[in-house]
Amino acid sequence: MSGVLRSETIKPGIGSKVLMTKEELLSGAYSSQIRALLEERGVLVFPALNFTDEEQLVFTRTLGTVSKEKTGEEVFTVSVDPEKSSGAAYLKGSFYWHFDGTVQDKPVLASLLTAKTLSDTGGDTEFCNTYAAFEALSESEQAELEQLRTRHSTWSSLFYFDPEPDQAMLEMFLQAGDKELPLVWTHASGRKSLVLGCTAYHVVGKTPKDGVMLLNRLREWATSEPFHYRHQWTVGDMVIWDNTGTLHRAMPYPVDSGREMRRTKLEGEEPII
Ligand code: OGA
Ligand code: MN
Repeated sequence: MSGVLRSETIKPGIGSKVLMTKEELLSGAYSSQIRALLEERGVLVFPALNFTDEEQLVFTRTLGTVSKEKTGEEVFTVSVDPEKSSGAAYLKGSFYWHFDGTVQDKPVLASLLTAKTLSDTGGDTEFCNTYAAFEALSESEQAELEQLRTRHSTWSSLFYFDPEPDQAMLEMFLQAGDKELPLVWTHASGRKSLVLGCTAYHVVGKTPKDGVMLLNRLREWATSEPFHYRHQWTVGDMVIWDNTGTLHRAMPYPVDSGREMRRTKLEGEEPII
């Protein structure tokens, strides 16, 4: 038997804490309530849940279809230390506002992150609600933005952390894709969100300068206080974000800090249109 999900709002514009036991979560009885709350609040924090990798995977399966990494892994270690994570090179991009799987046909629905080992300095994770940021714009600006399309790529985000890459590195990032996307995503639900992040490098039909001005202004708006939440981790915390209606970034931490997080992901269910 399942009851009502116990949760507390973190702030009006983003985030709820979910206060449920491991057993309740693993039962799957709350999965539809969790999915609904995730879409509504953008970020769900499960304080000191202490899921093992196996439990995190079982729980992820109660919410949808697990999305595997390119390596085939279902449970992935997130770290910028190449000795800890096969994705260390790309994860340097996680220090800049982004969402996961930007250039995929259907971007990841949600990502789940558990803190295993923390850094002594830095390493908080910040989130912002791109539904709430869009909804708070004036109707005329909303209408204007809805007409615009942008280009996103993994290679353009490389220049954030490696401004003068060698050609082989650039070519590796070029393989990861490049896509034209609308600036405003009209979801199947009818809700709309801004599509931004360090992967956005061009606004179709605008000069480079005008495009960058717009993308930068919107990023500043979307990540401003009313829509922003910064998670200060305790080992064992799990955080889920609705990857289709939020952006996130890690606060910088040293490569050799030992910081290690475990991530599972849910397959995307709709393209950005
Ligand atoms: C990710 C990510 C942020 C962090 O796993 O997709 O961006 O704080 N992580 O490690
Ligand atoms: Mn990410």
